[in-house]
Amino acid sequence: MLGCRAMRLFVAIDPAPEVQARIAQHIDKALRPRAPSAKWIEAGNLHLTLAFLGETEASKVEALSEALTRVAAAHDRFSLRFEGGGSFGAPRRPRVLWIDARGDREALSALQRDVEAAVLPPESRSSGRAFSPHLTLARSREPRGDAALAGCVEALAGELGETAVTAVVLYESVLGPRGARYTKLFEAMLR
Ligand code: 2AM
Repeated sequence: MLGCRAMRLFVAIDPAPEVQARIAQHIDKALRPRAPSAKWIEAGNLHLTLAFLGETEASKVEALSEALTRVAAAHDRFSLRFEGGGSFGAPRRPRVLWIDARGDREALSALQRDVEAAVLPPESRSSGRAFSPHLTLARSREPRGDAALAGCVEALAGELGETAVTAVVLYESVLGPRGARYTKLFEAMLR
């Protein structure tokens, strides 16, 4: 039955296409050569996750879109700068390499809190836990991490672009043998 199909969903902010292109160029020139075995993200897949819903019934997409429309309309547009970065996992064998989102962090945190409250059940919200906004660039292929990713952190020091945040996007993530494929389901515009 169509209504019972489960979809893996998340809500994110997309950096402007020119920022995605600049980051992709930095990956090609300065980062991938240092950690060629890691799974590097493709330019069009770069996003800043605000809330991860996981497996969700497809029939809920409409109500989620309406909830996101209401939240987005209550927040003004703001800007973010992508600069610096770090890793998750053991510092010597990171699992994830990411770029930091700086700039109007207060507006970003307020938007993230409201998006979470609109799309996640109370028990799944990060209430109390710090939100660490980031753009994931690469993931280790090995569950125990990739030492080469540690050597990439120093190459993240410079600024990689500024973006106007004008919308939040509801995405479906389809996991496949060649990584995740992200499909935009709905976009809600900020004020
Ligand atoms: P990441 O950016 O830190 O990798 C799609 O999978 C997006 O949802 C990814 O950007 C990922 O965050 C995030 N995500 C995936 N699994 C998650 C989980 N279990 N909890 C929180 N976020 C998750």
